[in-house]
Amino acid sequence: MRKRSLEKFAIVLTGVICLAVIFNKNDYEENETFTSDDTYKILRRQPDVPEPLTHQPLYSDCERNESASEVDGFFTLPNNIQDFLYYRHCRSFPMLLDVPDKCGGPQNSADVFLLLVIKSSPINYDRREVLRKTWAEERVYHGVHVRRIFIVGTSETGFQKTKFNKLLKIENKEHKDILQWDFNDSFFNLTLKQILFLEWMERRCPHARFLLNGDDDIFANTYNMVEFLQGQKDNDGDKHLFVGHLIQNVGPIRHPASKYYIPVQVQESESYPPYCGGGGFLLSGFTARTIYNMSHFITLLPIDDVYMGMCLIKACLKPVSHFAIRTAGLNMPSETIDQYDPCYYREIILVHRFQAHQIFVMWNEIQNPYLHCGIKSPLSL
Ligand SMILES: *[C@@H]1O[C@H](CO)[C@@H](O)[C@H](O)[C@H]1NC(C)=O
Ligand SMILES: *[C@@H]1O[C@H](CO)[C@@H](O)[C@H](O)[C@H]1NC(C)=O
Ligand SMILES: *[C@@H]1O[C@H](CO)[C@@H](O)[C@H](O)[C@H]1NC(C)=O
Ligand SMILES: *[C@@H]1O[C@H](CO)[C@@H](O)[C@H](O)[C@H]1NC(C)=O
Ligand SMILES: *[C@@H]1O[C@H](CO)[C@@H](O)[C@H](O)[C@H]1NC(C)=O
Repeated sequence: MRKRSLEKFAIVLTGVICLAVIFNKNDYEENETFTSDDTYKILRRQPDVPEPLTHQPLYSDCERNESASEVDGFFTLPNNIQDFLYYRHCRSFPMLLDVPDKCGGPQNSADVFLLLVIKSSPINYDRREVLRKTWAEERVYHGVHVRRIFIVGTSETGFQKTKFNKLLKIENKEHKDILQWDFNDSFFNLTLKQILFLEWMERRCPHARFLLNGDDDIFANTYNMVEFLQGQKDNDGDKHLFVGHLIQNVGPIRHPASKYYIPVQVQESESYPPYCGGGGFLLSGFTARTIYNMSHFITLLPIDDVYMGMCLIKACLKPVSHFAIRTAGLNMPSETIDQYDPCYYREIILVHRFQAHQIFVMWNEIQNPYLHCGIKSPLSL
């Protein structure tokens, strides 16, 4: 009798230890899955999202072009440029995340008045979260539907890459607003990202009337965007429109230290066509489709906004300037002025380079009905 219960006790004890080990192991695995970064802390309680069974290749099937290295001076070029030249011809990459119904299907996509297409990177979780709650919130503005999509590639390799992909997958499950392709999300791959988006648009959202194409660190006034687009005479998206901060009479920067360095091996010509600063610009669905059509005939240039200009000029279309699109920022007349005074931002369409918290504050401030501005206006800055 005594021996029996001792045996029972031993069995129960073993069970408890096993369970404890299993739980600990789970705990451990959970810690392995996410870093201690705040970004992931919130997500730790979410159920594990299973990985897709189909194994995506690390890179696409697009082969590196070995003869790219035969060009003069190739091995004196910085790594990212060499990389660009090796993979310049690759335009098709597997899609990791899609939102097929973003525009209610291709047929209904004409109901989308404005599609906000926001270039993001896997790590910019905080920016995406703030945009979802502020100017990029999906709802009706001035009576029309505005939709949002983030476009991203992948970061890092191995388990780090898996972690970021998991993050995006969880976000997409919750918000249904991420398009992701399996290519390295680097500065020099932004043109690729742009083209992959346009290809997606043709399939999934061909009749969206207008688009905002911009970075995830802009502050935009969605009401002003919609108002401006609604004011386009005789154009409900079926005619040309491309407005932003116009840049012209410039050419490739030939200093290797610059972020925008373009050596002659990438582009020989000393001039760029007119283009709009890539921080953010507005365009019609017609113009987006035209750019996509032209892109089939134009070799990739790693600077995405210049590339848009190349596509436009090939279609004999012009980009134009809008004073309320300030991708180069506002020129504050004096250092003593508060750069983030909401009075300067009520009338703008978009401004580049805001941090997540600044976007959050500004969006709330410009909607304050008691905001008193007097004559302060950004239009004079
Ligand atoms: C997992 O992380 C939590 C919180 O950071 C910590 O309390 C716990 O001890 C960790 N577990 C393991 C097994 O490392
Ligand atoms: C590979 O690079 C060479 C040299 O730049 C170029 O002539 C050739 O067209 C490229 N091939 C492809 C498939 O792009
Ligand atoms: C992605 O590109 C950047 C810039 O060229 C480079 O530093 C990084 O190592 C690349 N990452 C991968 C995974 O290839
Ligand atoms: C662009 O992405 C591809 C696929 O990940 C990668 O092979 C290539 O190195 C990237 N190019 C640049 C310039 O980062
Ligand atoms: C783009 O090309 C397709 C196929 O060639 C054509 O049907 C369409 O009309 C073109 N779109 C524009 C806006 O030029």
